[in-house]
Amino acid sequence: MGFRKDFLWGGATAANQCEGGYKEGKRGLSNIDVLPFGKDRFPVGMGKMKMFECDENHYYPSHEAIDMYNHYKEDIALFAEMGFKCYRLSIAWTRIFPTGEETTPNEEGLKFYEDLFDECLKYGIEPLVTICHFDVPMNLVEKYGSWRNRKLVDLYVRYCEAIFTRFKDKVKYWLTFNEINMILHLPFVGAGLYFEEGDNEEEVKYQAAHHQLVASALATKLAHEINPEFKIGCMLAAGNTYANTCAPEDVFKSIQKDRENYFFIDVQSRGYYPAYALKELERKGISLKMEQEDEKILRENTVDFISFSYYSSRLTSADPEISATTEGNVFATLKNPYLKASEWGWQIDPLGLRITMNSLYDRYQKPLFIVENGLGAVDTPDENGEINDDYRIEYLRQHIKAMKDAVELDGVDLWGYTSWGCIDLVSASTGEMKKRYGYIYVDKNNDGSGTLKRSKKKSFNWYKQVIASNGENLENKQEVELVCN
Ligand code: BG6
Repeated sequence: MGFRKDFLWGGATAANQCEGGYKEGKRGLSNIDVLPFGKDRFPVGMGKMKMFECDENHYYPSHEAIDMYNHYKEDIALFAEMGFKCYRLSIAWTRIFPTGEETTPNEEGLKFYEDLFDECLKYGIEPLVTICHFDVPMNLVEKYGSWRNRKLVDLYVRYCEAIFTRFKDKVKYWLTFNEINMILHLPFVGAGLYFEEGDNEEEVKYQAAHHQLVASALATKLAHEINPEFKIGCMLAAGNTYANTCAPEDVFKSIQKDRENYFFIDVQSRGYYPAYALKELERKGISLKMEQEDEKILRENTVDFISFSYYSSRLTSADPEISATTEGNVFATLKNPYLKASEWGWQIDPLGLRITMNSLYDRYQKPLFIVENGLGAVDTPDENGEINDDYRIEYLRQHIKAMKDAVELDGVDLWGYTSWGCIDLVSASTGEMKKRYGYIYVDKNNDGSGTLKRSKKKSFNWYKQVIASNGENLENKQEVELVCN
């Protein structure tokens, strides 16, 4: 009973939120590099405000981030000390193809990741690589309008070929796109989409999504040809949508809401556009441009496993009068009176994780991998400089317990768990440093000041104990309340 013996415990990061070194090693500029801190971040992230280059009046958190580019050895050593079996990271597309259009990859970029993977493997840590975690070369945004253009499919596959070939003996687990459904909710961040006046935004988003789905399937095909041992996963920003009441209208609305997100995984896992999506596109008057071979490509190249992020469940109502929303991983949701919430309003629902796991496993019958989960919180060092993050331990304890129940009591096949931001990093939604997820504290502030010094939080040793016991010992001696706003 319990987790499988080879369960992949670990942590997750993304290049654009931790690496920094945005001009080092001949790296090119990406969409996330022009995403500023402050009030303009959201409109730029939504593709509503044009910011195609950096200016003097803004601060851009990705440029230095936590400078993992120059600290990765120290950071991986700390992951190894916690007993990580797996480290999820992303490759920055612009380190490998700075403009996205070169015909040969940038050797400095490849070498950087090769050294990083070797460092992981030295400690027996399995790398799990996200090929595209939100970043698109800015050159492709400006020249082609990013994923709205079919051209991106070939360029992405070229990028995949370069990394699959180079790392075929070092990396086994790959994710094609991080949170592929993010394109609907934060399109410039999720896919480099900027909207011009007169654009049919829905159509642009779904056309770009189609290109990503085809690109994902072609990458899966190529991966299996290059190394049949490769395991390729899709990645969903997950969290089931509850109905506000048992009124059938509310229940049906919750099904529709979930389908908006399942749509992507339905295609990636089952290999075809589901009937409900075709009907919905028809109703919206959206006609997608598809090539003749697309259907076959999608059908023949489905993913090997389903990965997802889980921070919260969601709540919806069919009644337009009910509208008090709260934040939650970019998806606004109704406030659930049964749940507490983080300082950023993200509602905390450990049982929701078990519910989500069951839904995904029932729907796809493929192994699951939880590649993000965690609590973004303000950490304040005490008088001795220590961070006693019992609130984070409690959040993780309850979620890991729910995940264990899904495995032990419901029989869900789960390959691993990599909690988000195992080392503090830049928040994707707000650009803040003060929204911290890590077991490792990084001395860096919202305004970019700080020494970048790393130190262990209380949760560091707690997670070490969880991994050492393969999830059997979740105990924390300190009794604490979950965070509540
Ligand atoms: C997910 C992303 O949406 O949530 C991560 O894949 C992100 O990149 C994480 O950091 C947490 O969100 P935030 O906004 O708190 O950083």
